[in-house]
Amino acid sequence: MKILVTGGLGYIGSHVVVELQEKGYEVIIIDNLSNTSIDVLDNITSITGIRPTFEKIDIRYKEELHAFFKRHNSIEGIIHFAASKAVGESVNSPLLYYENNVNALVYLLQNIQNNDISLIFSSSCTVYGQAEQLPVTENAPIKPAESPYGNTKQIGEEIIRDTCKVKPNLKAIALRYFNPIGAHQSAKIGELPIGVPQNLVPYITQTAIGLRKQLSVYGNDYPTRDGTAIRDYIHVADLAKAHVAALSRLLNRKAKENFEIFNVGTGTGSTVMEVITAFEKASGVSLNYRIVDRRAGDVVEAYAQTDKARNILGWTPTYSLEESLASSWKWEKIVREKK
Ligand code: NAD
Ligand code: WQD
Repeated sequence: MKILVTGGLGYIGSHVVVELQEKGYEVIIIDNLSNTSIDVLDNITSITGIRPTFEKIDIRYKEELHAFFKRHNSIEGIIHFAASKAVGESVNSPLLYYENNVNALVYLLQNIQNNDISLIFSSSCTVYGQAEQLPVTENAPIKPAESPYGNTKQIGEEIIRDTCKVKPNLKAIALRYFNPIGAHQSAKIGELPIGVPQNLVPYITQTAIGLRKQLSVYGNDYPTRDGTAIRDYIHVADLAKAHVAALSRLLNRKAKENFEIFNVGTGTGSTVMEVITAFEKASGVSLNYRIVDRRAGDVVEAYAQTDKARNILGWTPTYSLEESLASSWKWEKIVREKK
């Protein structure tokens, strides 16, 4: 079965490509290399022994995308990762985010809406904002977005829902990821942040390796067990397995409705201080950090209710926080050795 992975050379996409190939799917990747490197293609090949087909296409260009679907008319499933994902950048350049994350999704749907196709969409826990009840379920109300990036994920879900209502052959699942961390066990693929990382775990590993002087912990006056904010950190390899489970549900026509939503997290929340302690234990490195003011726009607490994914997709996360952080650390050391 031929599966298209947009953004398949990115952080999460590359792990999903590996998982798909290991499950016997034939993979075609589209990526414009805006946030990754072509080396990832070799690294995927070296893990699985199979080189996926790759086309360098920018999906914002409607004609290029249309020509791609003319060339490849036997695609049965699509996993759509290609998007811009930096929350801060989206505040300063909203139109870039609406173009890349919303326009391009519309173009993709225009090409596939009349076909019998299974679509997995990368959504985010950011759609919940600060949930009233924790762990947060898929039925929790969607809060006004804190950033243009968050808004593109809310709009993206709505666009797919509305299209599925009138196109019964199109089947879609939106996966709302919590905080993906970690790297493939081979340490051949992982997260490659360009410039100064905005996310906690790459900032931690870059501080530990000496690339950054000190980690700033954003606030220790939150109403949590140690005053620092709580998130649900999910290993990217577990996240990759959830994609394949969701895709197989659609391909095997098991879905009850043609648009469904699943949370993908571990179900356990960890504070920033707990992450630091777990990292120090996993790496043996003592981390240089200091407490600073809260970061604007941060929620206090977010962790997933995962029953729906566990019961319906038959998916269970397997990595502990410490194992996930150990894999991030192994990856960081290898990346720096190469530079
Ligand atoms: P990433 O930046 O590593 O991967 C995205 C890939 O898409 C990159 O390789 C980039 O070059 C490519 N791309 C971007 N715009 C493109 C375009 N116009 N045409 C073709 N290719 C394009 O990001 P990621 O962390 O792997 O995230 C993948 C998806 O998951 C995104 O949609 C993101 O919003 C979503 N998501 C990520 C997180 C996270 O914390 N990493 C959390 C929730 C949701
Ligand atoms: C985690 C915790 C920070 C960096 C972001 C996006 C969200 C989703 C996941 C895509 C928070 C604290 C961080 C640092 C710190 N992505 N922190 N020092 O904010 O939960 O979510 O990624 O959809 O949309 O907003 O992740 O890794 O940035 O932060 O203290 O240098 O670590 O305040 O409590 P976040 P994060």
